[in-house]
Amino acid sequence: MVGGNWKCNGNLAFAKSFPAEVLNTLKFDPKKVDVVVAPTALHLSTVQANTKNNVHVATQNLSLTGDGAYTGEFSVGMIRDMGVTHTLTGHSERRTLYHETDKDVAIKTKLAVDSGMTVLACIGELLEERESGKTKDVNNRQLNAIREQCDDWSNIVIAYEPVWAIGTGKVATPQVAQETHAEIREWLAANVSKEAAATVRILYGGSVSDANAAELIAMEDIDGFLVGGASLKPAFH
Ligand code: PGA
Repeated sequence: MVGGNWKCNGNLAFAKSFPAEVLNTLKFDPKKVDVVVAPTALHLSTVQANTKNNVHVATQNLSLTGDGAYTGEFSVGMIRDMGVTHTLTGHSERRTLYHETDKDVAIKTKLAVDSGMTVLACIGELLEERESGKTKDVNNRQLNAIREQCDDWSNIVIAYEPVWAIGTGKVATPQVAQETHAEIREWLAANVSKEAAATVRILYGGSVSDANAAELIAMEDIDGFLVGGASLKPAFH
């Protein structure tokens, strides 16, 4: 799977031109790779209307609550009604800037999975956590929270995104990323099932670009990418 996370970027003209100029020209076999793009919610229907080529459209977030008196929110039911099949949950910007807890992320993941969506659940450690040797603990804590809510992991994709690598140009080396992905796979085997460990896709995210993607994807436990900045450029190819 390759996902593009547009974050809070783009305007209406971009939501029309990027599908036409980039997404619709991608050459890939949809039986072998899922391509997913997550524009802002405001631009979802424009991107949907202009995207062909088996590219899935995703939300970057969803509401913890359903329909009702929740000003500023959008519910999972509304997302499904729009024909959207994929969503991110737990991106580090949601966790750090908007104070989403591990439990919030887990409940959102469960709401989306229960609605039949495929979820790219984001996890990852801060720089000081990596430097103090806590990477595995932090990832496991975030994964355990999701495990408490979700039994069925068949539509969960894990996006491992070390926070120090997001938007910084400091990509994890293939060895560092592989080591952490292997730990995540071990966690899946021990806490979900052997089948989940074999089938759940673990994406790497954090300063992925056309310059480093090839050496990262060569690693055994890296099953794709979640791309931020480079997903807004023709280099998303
Ligand atoms: P980046 O962002 O590729 O710009 O580092 C990745 C992400 O936040 O998903």
